[in-house]
Order: sequence, then structure tokens, then C-alpha cells
Amino acid sequence: MLSLPKGVSRIDAQPDRWLTDPGDTALWLSRSAWSLALLARAMMVERGRTIRVAVPEYICNQSLWPLRQTGAELDFYALDPQRLTPLWPDDRQGAPPDLVLLVHYFGWANAGDEALAYCRRHDALLVEDCAHVLRPTPEIGRLGDVVLYSQHKVLACPDGALCLLRRQATALGPAMRADLNAMASDHPPVTAWAWRRMVQKTPIAGLRARLRPPGQSDFTADPSTTPMPCQPRASAAALSLIDAADLELVARRRRVNAAALLEVVGTVPGLRPLFDGILAEAPYRLPLLCANQQQAERLFQACRAERLPAESWPDLPPEITSGTATMLRSRVLLLPCHQDLQPAQLQQAFTRVLRRLSV
Ligand SMILES: Cc1ncc(COP(=O)(O)O)c(C=O)c1O
Repeated sequence: MLSLPKGVSRIDAQPDRWLTDPGDTALWLSRSAWSLALLARAMMVERGRTIRVAVPEYICNQSLWPLRQTGAELDFYALDPQRLTPLWPDDRQGAPPDLVLLVHYFGWANAGDEALAYCRRHDALLVEDCAHVLRPTPEIGRLGDVVLYSQHKVLACPDGALCLLRRQATALGPAMRADLNAMASDHPPVTAWAWRRMVQKTPIAGLRARLRPPGQSDFTADPSTTPMPCQPRASAAALSLIDAADLELVARRRRVNAAALLEVVGTVPGLRPLFDGILAEAPYRLPLLCANQQQAERLFQACRAERLPAESWPDLPPEITSGTATMLRSRVLLLPCHQDLQPAQLQQAFTRVLRRLSV
């Protein structure tokens, strides 16, 4: 059913392109959400107790589902409203964390040095969450004791996520591998993904998009968090596709697409890129900060009407009801810059959106 690129027959993938340290231990899973859960379980065994995990208040709630099932205690840390970097709690405040998650959102390099210093003061492991990152950069993927990549988010593959363990975290490798083998009944189904890809490449896709634009229909509506089937293994098809992916080409196309959109965005009062330097490597999406929620909603609806698949900031954890994360949820609009899209097509679509709003 799934057609692999010519010459691809392997059923494993080389993690080399994501390694930054020769001593890295690499584990392939289906999704980073499972990597986090397996990591927490191995650490609980190692420390002989439940563990505390510090996660940013702006994290997507669905991705926490497997971690929540482990019984780990979650502490949500706040973010600087301007820099969007972590505001680490005072060292004497609250119980110290065992694991600290630092997210490089949309491919933007977050403040790694400060995070590592905070971890070292508390004997905690630093997890660099690179779920939105294509590959390591000089500022991403080098400091973490654990580094998580979600290849399935940025490459054309049905599943696949890499968990890298280094320094003292390598001791967790055997327990995580054993856990994966024991709990993994299966990998996520590949057939539905392969059908979707095939349909996306036919004229039917255009017709479907005209009838019903994909994604959320309302800017403020969040999908409800759903239990995830226990399928933590990466599929052989995914690993083959990951191995065959041309990361250089993907990075270039994503940068070019985001830059093309930014040219048009620059003409809209009140709208600006959320992060400086988002074009440095390979953006996952182009995140834009709107002047207020009203502008975000109007742009979102106009994008849908023009069949440009815009999104809002992902669903927040229910524990978070105020602060920087809620500001981001109400004012950020995400535009697509996927490598399969064309820069001219994106510019034309966004120009039509602005014309519709008479901006
Ligand atoms: C910042 C972040 N980290 C981790 C995850 C989980 O990634 P995965 O889909 O590979 O489980 C997500 C998912 O959307 C995410 O947005």
C-alpha cells in the first residue's frame, strides 16, 4: 500500500543526522509523547519514587497524555511575556523538579544555557523538546541530557520520533528499551496515512478542500484531549521514509515559504512574527502575533474562507487559565510553510485573505 522512495528497502533508520555527541544513545519511537512517558517511567524506577516534571504552561495538552498516565507530578512553569523564555521559579520555592522540559517552539531556539543551569542546581535532567525542529542547529539539540525529535511532524512519514539520551541520562536507556519492548503491542496504523497522502495528491483533494477546509473550524475551539492507543513503536515504513528524507531540501523549502509569507505579513498593521530569527533554520509553522484576539479571529476566518489552513496556538492544559500562555492562545495565528507548498501559492492565498478583510 505504501510506496517507498526508489531504492529504499531498509526497515531501520540511521539517527546520525540528529546526533551531536558520539556517546548519544538513540531510541526510535512513534511519537515524542511516548518518549516522555517512557523516560518518566525509567526515571521513577531509577529514583525509587514518583518524579516531578517541570513543563511550560504553553505546552499542548494532548502531548502530555501518556506522561500523565505514568503518575508523574506536573509543575507548570511561567514564561516571560516578552522573550517567551522560561521564568524559572526561585530555587527555594516548591519541591525541586527531576525532569525539566524546554520547548523550542516552531523551531525557534529557546534559552538553553539558563535551563541547563537551573537543572544542574536541582539534580534534574534537561529535556530539550525539539518536536518542532527538523535537525540540530548550533543552539538546539546540544545542551539537553535528553533530546526529543518528532520526525513525523516535519517530514512526510506516518509516525517516527527520536529520543536521544546522553551524559547521565544514558543510564536510563536499557530500562526504556525494555519498557518499550514489553509495552509495545504495535506501531500506529500506516494504511490510513498512506491513503490520505495519495488522496492529497489527486484533484479530489482540491474539491474536498473547497467543500470543507481542513482543521479546526473556530479560532477559539480546542479539540478535547483523547486517550492515545498504546502504540509507541515506530513503523518500519516511517523509518525508511525518514532515512530517505533530504533534510537540506526540506529546510530550504520551509525557510523560503515562511519568508514569502512574511513579505506579505509585513504590510499588515499590528501583525508581526512571534519570534525573531524564526527563518534561521526550518520553521515548523510561521507563528504570528496579532494585535488582539479580534484580529486573530478575523484573520483565521478569512484564511479558512480562502482555504489557507491557518491554526491557533495548540490546546493548553486545563490547569492554565491565565498568564503568557493564554495570551498566546488568544493572539497567535499559525500559517503553514510545509515543504510541499509553493511560495507563490502561499503569497497569493494570504494576499486574497487580506483583500477579503480590506487590509
Ligand atoms: C511542543 C510539543 N512537544 C511534544 C509534542 C508531542 O509530539 P508527538 O506528536 O511526536 O507526540 C508536541 C505535539 O504536538 C508538541 O507540540
